[in-house]
Amino acid sequence: MTSSGEHLPGVPHLGSGLGYRRELRDHILRAAGRIDVLEIVTEQFMDAEGELEELADHFPVIPHGVGLSLGTVGPLDRDYLSRVKRVCDLIDAPYYSEHLAITRAPGIDIGHLSPVWFVEDQLRTVVDNIAAVQDFLGRPLVVENISYLLEIPYATMSQGEFFHRMVEATGCGVLLDVANVHINSCNHGFSAEAFLDSMPLHAVVQIHLAGGFLDGDVYIDGHCARVNEPTWKLLEVLAERVPVRVSILEQDADFPDELTPMLDDVDRSRQIITAAGEGRR
Ligand SMILES: [Fe+2]
Repeated sequence: MTSSGEHLPGVPHLGSGLGYRRELRDHILRAAGRIDVLEIVTEQFMDAEGELEELADHFPVIPHGVGLSLGTVGPLDRDYLSRVKRVCDLIDAPYYSEHLAITRAPGIDIGHLSPVWFVEDQLRTVVDNIAAVQDFLGRPLVVENISYLLEIPYATMSQGEFFHRMVEATGCGVLLDVANVHINSCNHGFSAEAFLDSMPLHAVVQIHLAGGFLDGDVYIDGHCARVNEPTWKLLEVLAERVPVRVSILEQDADFPDELTPMLDDVDRSRQIITAAGEGRR
């Protein structure tokens, strides 16, 4: 925090946009007037510098990684981090975002985002990794809450306390995925708003929105549908509490023929965040 009270004051207010997907390239370029900012998946652009520069000519671009594995014990993969840094430097990224997750153990790639265990040892590992990544990249890390089907038992602290202590120890920011909060609250039977209250909201700089689906009585984080009303409600609650500097709609599949429904969701997120900001003044 600074004397002005804003966490990570170097992070600009970039507005509302969506996650770039190659299938949507032409639609996105045509709709540039309705998209304030694009988020890319870093790993997809490590060997696509020309494509990245083209996007950066039209939009502010922020990089979002999936392979850092902040919960893994041991030295970070310096080759991988060098490639991340190259992407960040190319687009002059104000921060780098990743998930609070484990994606690999030495010699094993799990292939998806697995939850960390909310205990002291794990916190130390995550804090050490975040500090090393921020040092290496020369920019702040912004850490995202994931959706999870398995809650690892015998935790000694809540996820909220884990995030608080992680932010306090490293100065990192938070990417609050409000869809993940809704999904986890449905699947694990807790209050989504109480979860928001438990998090270090002062450190939130970015949010994610997405739509999923029900498989039986399990909510799946499918990134394949419109954002549902409980998720919009959570964004309203959050935006009234803190200024959201970046809002990104994530959709990975079942794209509409035209981008219109996705652009409408981008508009709605911008309206919610703007109205809440005016209400705070
Ligand atoms: Fe997300």
